[in-house]
Amino acid sequence: MARKIVITSGKGGVGKTTVAACVSAQLAKRGQRVVLCDADFGLNNVDVVTGVENLVTYDVVDVIEGRCRAKQALVRHPDFGNLYVLTSSHSAPERYVSPQSLKLVLDSLAPQFDFVIIDCPAGIDEGFHRAVASADEAIVVATPQVSSLRDADKVITLLKSYRLAELSLVVNKVRGDLLLTGESLSPQEIEELLKIPVLGVLPEEYSIYGGDFTDLHPAFKTLANNLLTDKRKLYDPTRKYTGIFGNLRRILKRNL
Ligand SMILES: Nc1ncnc2c1ncn2[C@@H]1O[C@H](COP(=O)(O)OP(=O)(O)O)[C@@H](O)[C@H]1O
Ligand SMILES: [Mg+2]
Repeated sequence: MARKIVITSGKGGVGKTTVAACVSAQLAKRGQRVVLCDADFGLNNVDVVTGVENLVTYDVVDVIEGRCRAKQALVRHPDFGNLYVLTSSHSAPERYVSPQSLKLVLDSLAPQFDFVIIDCPAGIDEGFHRAVASADEAIVVATPQVSSLRDADKVITLLKSYRLAELSLVVNKVRGDLLLTGESLSPQEIEELLKIPVLGVLPEEYSIYGGDFTDLHPAFKTLANNLLTDKRKLYDPTRKYTGIFGNLRRILKRNL
């Protein structure tokens, strides 16, 4: 039976879709059977981010409205046979989808998969509720910026009112150079502030994901490993900035 995990944040642009897509691909690479569900009916960009937009025939609204079965709407990723993308509606993005109907679709798929990863929209209204109500675990994505942490704190309070088995944090867009100079909050400090365990740390790097799942950043491997085991290893974003060349990189980045 699949673990159903929603990737959420409150704030937009912090990396929910990136994390959902790359973690799904990494899990699939590790042999896990994964459904990546786009529950962001407003932006619905998971198909583009995963590069399957030209392979979509049916979407989740087609399943809910009875035009196809749930399995027919899954798009098998061309590079990873274990990764299946369930896109949100393209024909009518504004169409109302109830939390119960999305949950029914995902519950019907769960017995045949190991993971259902749900990409949540920004905000804490109806779309948030719909995505979270279908999940039994949640990962909150936050960046070290104050505005993101404030939104994450609100979302965590809300998530605590759902019956979730796990609630953890991914700290994204961490700048190793600023961590070394003490100008950025560290993932440990963020963990203390938000009071939920850090499951993963991802560096801010332009190349974190350029649309190619065959060359995933090592930080996603560490994160997926933490999901699959009880270990909590965290990627160290400062390692690029130590030593002679690291210091040089730090100076160059500062002057950008
Ligand atoms: N660790 C990172 N380093 C650099 N850019 C990132 C990182 N994570 C995400 N991004 C970029 O930030 C933007 C927003 O990411 P996205 O995953 O769409 O956020 P969300 O789904 O939360 O709105 C995208 O352009 C994405 O490529
Ligand atoms: Mg998104």
